[in-house]
Amino acid sequence: MWHDRQGSSFDCPFSARLGAFALALVVAASILCPKTFQGQNSASAKPIADLPPGEMQAKATIACTECHEARIILQQRLSKAAWTKEVDKMTKWGALVDPKDRDALIDYLSANFGPDKPPYEAPRSTTKASTHESGAK
Ligand code: HEC
Repeated sequence: MWHDRQGSSFDCPFSARLGAFALALVVAASILCPKTFQGQNSASAKPIADLPPGEMQAKATIACTECHEARIILQQRLSKAAWTKEVDKMTKWGALVDPKDRDALIDYLSANFGPDKPPYEAPRSTTKASTHESGAK
């Protein structure tokens, strides 16, 4: 039993193996999931926007960024009826939306990207606001 060893200092015969095992896991993970470990470097060069937090964020990210970036969703300002059509269209095209999640997903999208939201601001890769030339007109 583990608690029998309490107080017997650090010579547990398993600790070295556990350490090696944990290390092996990290190494394996970094090989199998290189994006997780390298993603930070390229983040600034290529802005990839995320879907907003919410109950459906994880499922929407899986179902809706398979074929295109989240940005195509972020820039929409649609009514609930339009989102319903959009989700059904994407599902017909192959988006993996569980029929149980359809309504929640439509609610999530309409709540975050409804017509009353301020317009989407497209990230610009080159021009900064401060570089506008005053004498251009
Ligand atoms: C099977 C691939 C696929 C999946 C999965 C998918 N889409 Fe799309 N989506 C497309 C294609 C193809 C287009 C149109 C081409 C383009 O504009 O890039 C598109 C375009 C869109 C547009 C732009 C408006 C339009 O109708 O063209 C929105 C909004 C959109 N998708 C939302 C979603 C949402 C929300 C989901 C998740 C439920 C989703 N997509 C999942 C393929 C997909």
